[in-house]
Amino acid sequence: MKDHPIIVFSGTSNPKLAESICAYLNKPMGKVWIERFPDSEKIIRLESDVRGKDCFVVQSTCRPVDASVMELLIFLDCLKRASATRITAVVPYFGYARQDRKDAGRVPITAKLVANLITSAGANRVLSVDLHAKQLQGFFDIPVDHLTAAPVFIEYFRRRNLPRLAVVAPDVGNMKTAALYAAALGGELAIIHKRRLTGNEVESIEMIGTVEGRNVVMCDDIISTAGTVYNAARLVKERGAEQVFVGATHGVFSGQAIDRLSAAPLDEILVTDTIPLSEAAAELPHLKVLSVANLLGEAIRRIHNNESVSSMFT
Ligand code: R5P
Repeated sequence: MKDHPIIVFSGTSNPKLAESICAYLNKPMGKVWIERFPDSEKIIRLESDVRGKDCFVVQSTCRPVDASVMELLIFLDCLKRASATRITAVVPYFGYARQDRKDAGRVPITAKLVANLITSAGANRVLSVDLHAKQLQGFFDIPVDHLTAAPVFIEYFRRRNLPRLAVVAPDVGNMKTAALYAAALGGELAIIHKRRLTGNEVESIEMIGTVEGRNVVMCDDIISTAGTVYNAARLVKERGAEQVFVGATHGVFSGQAIDRLSAAPLDEILVTDTIPLSEAAAELPHLKVLSVANLLGEAIRRIHNNESVSSMFT
């Protein structure tokens, strides 16, 4: 795509992240006008010319989820009709991902539905970070570059240089990531067996591995209602852990999350900027935000130059 200039646009869900990506790429942000008609329908007009350009639109499908999804779809349609040469949907946080199979009768598979909508609207490629399940890549019939924020967290914890480290997966789904952290940081590995009671309630039943007298780093892809990390933090503390840190890529913070995170025995909560912080989350004294802007910026640069993206993680 070297003959087709690169241009990065931002939807309204995460403009700060988009600005940081543009700063990494040393490119001005594409100009766009986004408004609502009086009946609340959204209208988007591109103010930068995109004909013949390699276009990237940054939009996390976070809260308000339906509005963010719809805006992304309208943006993609707009770029397609304005004759962009190639369109990449940069979706740092891909919402609706957790409904990814029929686990009961008469329920939808929203992850597939949203993937279909993004493709139909005009995306030629997708770039995302820590999808809820890696196999969601296969829900798209267009190329998906799937990044992980693990290097960002690993770098942070490496700098902290915590002694006597144990890396804990708060459920089996996070086992591989925890093993990666443990290999990179040199700690012991422990795994918690979690049972989900309802969408809002989980229990941490048992743990394989030992954390007594150790500083614990937990990793997760999402903190939603914070039931998972709240219970896991309590369990490791009961088992004699010293300081407890959690690194989760997407700070969704819904339902009782803020109360649980305030009450949990956690020394630090780390999330990335795939989702902008709500005011309540920003008040949490032990919460820190690490940026994935450079990671996304580098992936965009490589996609544009037809260079390997996977080699960023080897
Ligand atoms: C589970 O499969 C995920 O990795 C997260 O642990 C989960 O989505 C977090 O949800 P909550 O914060 O509501 O426990």
